[in-house]
Amino acid sequence: MKLRGWKYEDILTISEMEKACFPLEPWSFAALASSFASDAFSGVVAEDGGEILGYGGITVAADTADIDNVAVREEYRGGGVGTAIITELIKIARERGAKKVFLEVRVSNATAMELYIKSGFKGVYARTRYYSDGEDCLVMSKEL
Ligand SMILES: CC(C)(COP(=O)(O)OP(=O)(O)OC[C@H]1O[C@@H](n2cnc3c(N)ncnc32)[C@H](O)[C@@H]1OP(=O)(O)O)[C@@H](O)C(=O)NCCC(=O)NCCS
Repeated sequence: MKLRGWKYEDILTISEMEKACFPLEPWSFAALASSFASDAFSGVVAEDGGEILGYGGITVAADTADIDNVAVREEYRGGGVGTAIITELIKIARERGAKKVFLEVRVSNATAMELYIKSGFKGVYARTRYYSDGEDCLVMSKEL
């Protein structure tokens, strides 16, 4: 498996994975495509044999970074792909001068929280009814 930056030709696959992984609020093809216009955004894919196993994106503004999305194809979960993507996003944040990384996670998403805790994130506070279906989110952060 290798990690590399998003290319424009990955966007269709990523948008299909967004629909499968985040059926309530997927990033649309247009939103993903517009990420190329932002200097602050970096997207990463984990690829093996030409297949995209997972992806993640991060926005770095001054000394603060926000992880925008992370997802792994269902059949490849539990094999370290998510950890590799988060590790790469944290590396990008450091290289771009961030001192702190934030992310938001649904309070029901214990699997993702485990991944973030293992990657050094801590819960900071909850936001009530943050998602369109009324679920709360937990904001997590990691000092770099
Ligand atoms: C969250 C997600 C990205 C994790 O990806 P992954 O490749 O399975 O992660 P890893 O294999 O690197 O696992 C990292 C840790 O997560 C936790 N984890 C992974 N799968 C788990 C499961 N099925 N149940 C509980 N914890 C799990 C474990 O703590 C694991 O560490 P371990 O392998 O030392 O036990 C993946 O489950 C996913 O795409 N989920 C749907 C999209 C999503 O919820 N994204 C996050 C939005 S905030």
